[in-house]
This record gives sequence, structure tokens and C-alpha cells, in this order.
Amino acid sequence: MNAPANSDWQPVCRRDELTGERIVEFRIQRPQTEPGTMPLTGFLFLDGSEPRAYVNQCPHLGIELNWMPGQFMDADNLFIQCSTHGALFKPGTGDCIAGPCQGDALTALDVRIDAGEVQIRFQE
Ligand code: FES
Repeated sequence: MNAPANSDWQPVCRRDELTGERIVEFRIQRPQTEPGTMPLTGFLFLDGSEPRAYVNQCPHLGIELNWMPGQFMDADNLFIQCSTHGALFKPGTGDCIAGPCQGDALTALDVRIDAGEVQIRFQE
């Protein structure tokens, strides 16, 4: 199987594996730009019943949001929270509503479900 091109969809997990508050982390495949660029990771979760995915990169310093695997949410489980300086992001839009990057946003990934599989697409 060939590695996906930048515009291709990348499978992440089965839709039925994405339940409740589970957050799935994955490496974003960028065969056109790697090696030579920093690897990027992403995370996928259910926002209500809607799958959403973002690049795991805080707009403040460009570092990953989480210290612990699968831990992205604040204590109330309402907002995505950066573990470094505590910025809060709306799960549905990625908009930063508090913290040092307020007014900025996470980079959203395209998400689709194809034959029961959740797929993401990253556009450079
Ligand atoms: S690195 Fe995320 S808020 Fe500073």
C-alpha cells in the first residue's frame, strides 16, 4: 500500500472505536514533506456525536498540547486545555477562549467516515 499523498485521506480508527470521552492520537502522514520537517501528530474525538480532529500543536508555542497520552481536556471536561500554560480551546471549533493565545485557534483536520472508518486529511 502506498503512503498517502498530502491531499489523501488517512485512516485513524473505526467509527465504533470512537466512543464517549475517548481521544485517539495519531501521527499525521505527510510523505511529501517528511523527512525534513518535524513530525506532526493529531487527535480525534467525539464532539457530541460529531467526530473532530485537530493537529496536536498549541498556537502559543507550537508544542504538543498534552503531557499525558490521551489527556487533552480540562478538569470539567468542557474544553481542550494546553498542559503547558493552560490555554482553553472550544472542542467544536478549536478557538482559544482563554490563555496566552486567546483569539487564535487549533488547526482543524478534515474528518470523514468511509465504510465505518474515521479518516482525516491534513492540508499543508
Ligand atoms: S504552549 Fe500552550 S498555552 Fe503556552
